[in-house]
Amino acid sequence: MTATLRPAVPGTLSAAPVPPAAAPLGDAGPTPAVEVRGFRFSYGTRLILKDLDLSIRRRAVTAVIGPSGSGKSTFLRSINRLHDLAPNARWEGDILVEGESVFGPGMDLVTLRQRVGMVFQRPNPFPRSIYDNVAYGPALNRLVPRRELPDLVERCLRQAALWEEVKERLDSPGTSLSGGQQQRLCIARALGNQPQVLLMDEPASALDPGATEKVEELIFDLKRDYTIVIVTHNMQQAARVSDFTAFFEAGALVEFGGTHRMFTAPASERTEAYITGRFG
Ligand SMILES: Nc1ncnc2c1ncn2[C@@H]1O[C@H](COP(=O)(O)OP(=O)(O)OP(=O)(O)O)[C@@H](O)[C@H]1O
Ligand SMILES: [Mg+2]
Repeated sequence: MTATLRPAVPGTLSAAPVPPAAAPLGDAGPTPAVEVRGFRFSYGTRLILKDLDLSIRRRAVTAVIGPSGSGKSTFLRSINRLHDLAPNARWEGDILVEGESVFGPGMDLVTLRQRVGMVFQRPNPFPRSIYDNVAYGPALNRLVPRRELPDLVERCLRQAALWEEVKERLDSPGTSLSGGQQQRLCIARALGNQPQVLLMDEPASALDPGATEKVEELIFDLKRDYTIVIVTHNMQQAARVSDFTAFFEAGALVEFGGTHRMFTAPASERTEAYITGRFG
């Protein structure tokens, strides 16, 4: 698919540097990595997500953008069913991960969360050693034989671009690391579970510019192997790291498409207004 680009409207879409248009992004494959079908979500009588339909491509980065309260986190959390604890949560429709419904009878939450990893806004390492933070999930889920855990831990810490900084102190508490290092540890922890999909809810918003750059580079590298969905309030970040962008407003998906196209020629005036910082 080749995107036809019309020039940006002069003086409007200057908020974000736009990456060059790339040839087919991600892995189109026979099925999407995540497929959302007529998904609605409410807390009590309050409708939070309205009839969402979208397909998330494998081995690509999809950014979820939109004003505060538009339902971005609720959407992300729906994919690995983190809302299940809320007593007044109701939903309709379906979400499939690699073709399997997350609500299906055969999908227990432990399996789902092994397949769909999550990284939160604030780094939240376990109060355990750096090593244990990464080894805990795969050991619990018996993903590799015990003797292979040290190799897996090293691989995940390397993938998370943290290995060189921590290899001499794997026994130190995860909480002894800097904020940016803790966030990369949380990414390594998520990778330890060998997920199919990695969800990131504003993973760099609590980090300084240097640490943010590291996390962005990491996201770029990780999409070779993983499907990534990232919520961000930072338009430059969305433009830099993502292949596809979903714009949410008031619980509805206003626009979804290739990031380059959306940032240069948004189809909706609402998207354009948001991207250019006129509201939100
Ligand atoms: N546990 C809950 N009970 C009731 N309402 C909730 C709950 N959690 C979130 N909401 C409401 O759902 C709506 C969407 O919230 P959500 O956190 O998904 O927005 P968001 O787009 O992630 O916002 P932000 O950019 O501020 O993180 C908001 O109006 C919020 O008040
Ligand atoms: Mg949120």
